[in-house]
Amino acid sequence: MKVYVPRDAAARALGADAVAEALICEAAARGIDLTLVRNGSRGMVWLEPLVEIERNGQRLAYGPVTPADIPALLDGTFPTHGPVEAIPFFARQTRLTFARVGLIDPLDLADYEAHGGLSGLRRALSMTAESILDEVKLSGLRGRGGAGFPTGIKWDTVRLAKADRKYIVCNADEGDSGTFADRMLMEGDPFTLIEGMVIAGLGTGATKGFVYIRSEYPDAIAVMLEASRIARANGLLGPSILGTPHAFDLEIRVGAGAYVCGEETSLLNSLEGKRGVVRAKPPLPALEGLFGRPTVVNNVISLATIPVIFEKGAKHYADFGLGRSRGTIPVQIAGNVRHGGLFETAFGMTLGDLVHGIGGGTASGRPVKAVQVGGPLGAYFPASKFDTPFGYEEFDGQGGLIGHAGVVVFDDSVDMLKMARFAMEFCAIESCGKCTPCRIGAVRGVETIDRIGRGDAAAIPLLTDLCETMKDGSLCALGGFTPYPVMSALTQFPEDFACAKEAAE
Ligand SMILES: Cc1cc2nc3c(=O)[nH]c(=O)nc-3n(C[C@H](O)[C@H](O)[C@H](O)COP(=O)(O)O)c2cc1C
Ligand code: SF4
Repeated sequence: MKVYVPRDAAARALGADAVAEALICEAAARGIDLTLVRNGSRGMVWLEPLVEIERNGQRLAYGPVTPADIPALLDGTFPTHGPVEAIPFFARQTRLTFARVGLIDPLDLADYEAHGGLSGLRRALSMTAESILDEVKLSGLRGRGGAGFPTGIKWDTVRLAKADRKYIVCNADEGDSGTFADRMLMEGDPFTLIEGMVIAGLGTGATKGFVYIRSEYPDAIAVMLEASRIARANGLLGPSILGTPHAFDLEIRVGAGAYVCGEETSLLNSLEGKRGVVRAKPPLPALEGLFGRPTVVNNVISLATIPVIFEKGAKHYADFGLGRSRGTIPVQIAGNVRHGGLFETAFGMTLGDLVHGIGGGTASGRPVKAVQVGGPLGAYFPASKFDTPFGYEEFDGQGGLIGHAGVVVFDDSVDMLKMARFAMEFCAIESCGKCTPCRIGAVRGVETIDRIGRGDAAAIPLLTDLCETMKDGSLCALGGFTPYPVMSALTQFPEDFACAKEAAE
């Protein structure tokens, strides 16, 4: 009997380890020959721990399962959701980057290869650096960390730079609120990230990589450490990649925890053992990055999408999407929502379909009031903007951003003045302190919102003015984008800013 119980941190937090233990004990007591695979999560968090039992070539889903349910599960009397891939939340997805997550044993390299792993790398090994770059450019892939910068152009800058050594840095700091795609990918299919980093090395001439993971992700750190050890032992990393003359190796580094350390230059300082303070640009990290050398800094999902682009071809990938947003995006649906989880889809789905059609509306059953997209620096969207399609330009056109594709849902009990204050306070706490508009502005912003909360209408133009200054004068997007949640709360939900409403009337 083959059974899958996720080892993903979310599933473990919901009791997956106890379920796995109970399964082993009960199977032993019944004399059942059990093969237990600790897979990644399928991303349907409301069903975790989601147990899958393989029967007649199908994987039947059961969940949430508790240890007390195990006897019924083995008796065959516990209700099933049917084949896991037929569950509507799963069936509606286009899984390219996450194709193997939840399907395979994350640390079984043979299982990885049996499901298409390493074919992208094998193809890249037969190509020149220039043609590798052409393929990445043709795919239309843009950075999934937030800024949406074209990956091929960034890599080309590094490829063309002259230096004795170049680096690939994977940004696995994943600080955005409501996001967990990087963690799920690393825990569920770590070899994909390693393969993507090796291809990035081939394309740019970098021979050394670092994965910078936040300390709050102990499971991801453990899986990545073990995966890189296995990769090295099997020639996927080291002086001779898969027997070729190409060399590439990587190290896992743990960040001590600061939102701003996800900003690429701050991250590089942290990697160098310095305080996580933002560096002024230029120079670009692609020209003078880690230890002053040309460096690619890419998000986990950007790098983990590279193997499928090389396996299936850039055109196959680029055929999905909308406008200049090509391919797929793993949307993370969280907050007050019935069906929270990871939903990988081609760009173009509307926000409303994601929140209602996929997420099933609020968990509380109350009406949705606001959705924050793109982490703590993202704008709040009211229901009137739910027809916005998921795409970089489309969200920009609505005064928002998709960032790392976190979607956090709030019901009608949320107080948007409090959310605006929270955004400013977050910026004040997390500011690296390098520039004045952010360091001082965020503190003044909290005070100004408090004045508005006390009914002082004169503070509203002051807040608007302050937001303009922070937007135009901040050195990085922490200070520069905090005005997005603040101003969207003020303009889209004036009823929560009582004196703003009065002033307008
Ligand atoms: C305050 C701040 C925090 C950020 N946090 C992250 C993060 O946690 N993960 C990430 O990949 N990018 C983060 N970014 C974006 C990075 O600076 C950078 O654009 C990204 O790592 C580049 O990779 P990509 O091109 O693959 O998106 C952050 C940016 C800012 C301004
Ligand atoms: S905007 Fe804030 S976080 Fe960014 S450099 Fe300035 S002080 Fe630092």
